[in-house]
Amino acid sequence: MLSELIPQTRFSCGPSGFETISKLKIPYSKLVNISHIEHIGIAVRDLEAAIAFYEKTLGLQCYATEEVDDQKVRTAFFRVGGTKIELLASTTPDGPVAKHIERRGEGVHHIAFAVDSVRASLAEAEALGVGLIDHEPRKGAEGMEIAFLHPRSTLGVLTEFCAQPGR
Ligand code: CO
Repeated sequence: MLSELIPQTRFSCGPSGFETISKLKIPYSKLVNISHIEHIGIAVRDLEAAIAFYEKTLGLQCYATEEVDDQKVRTAFFRVGGTKIELLASTTPDGPVAKHIERRGEGVHHIAFAVDSVRASLAEAEALGVGLIDHEPRKGAEGMEIAFLHPRSTLGVLTEFCAQPGR
């Protein structure tokens, strides 16, 4: 049905950068279904110092810290309206966040979008040609299921899908 279709612009990297190559119509049901920004991940060297800045200068309150073995990080969470800030400090010198800081310094590390089902959204993104870092959901902080898309497919932004498990 026409009302269920929205125009989708596809881009390809040509000699002059990104160029529009075609306009496709893709059914809504085939697009990744994002509800909101769940959190923004920020890579920091010193978690305690970063928490102090967020609390004492920005006036936000850290409501949880958690070590996530899978990603070799310690995290600290702050609520900001309907979304969160997730501070990430590496627990090992060779962890992904330590490598990110080596290459790019401290700063924004990823954006996490809330989805209904990480598995379904990964499949939808992959079908639309997005490169994936994680082909299966894995366990993130706060008991969430998470998965990362490859930044080369997402205009340089490391992009996470996350959802409450069992959905
Ligand atoms: Co995250």
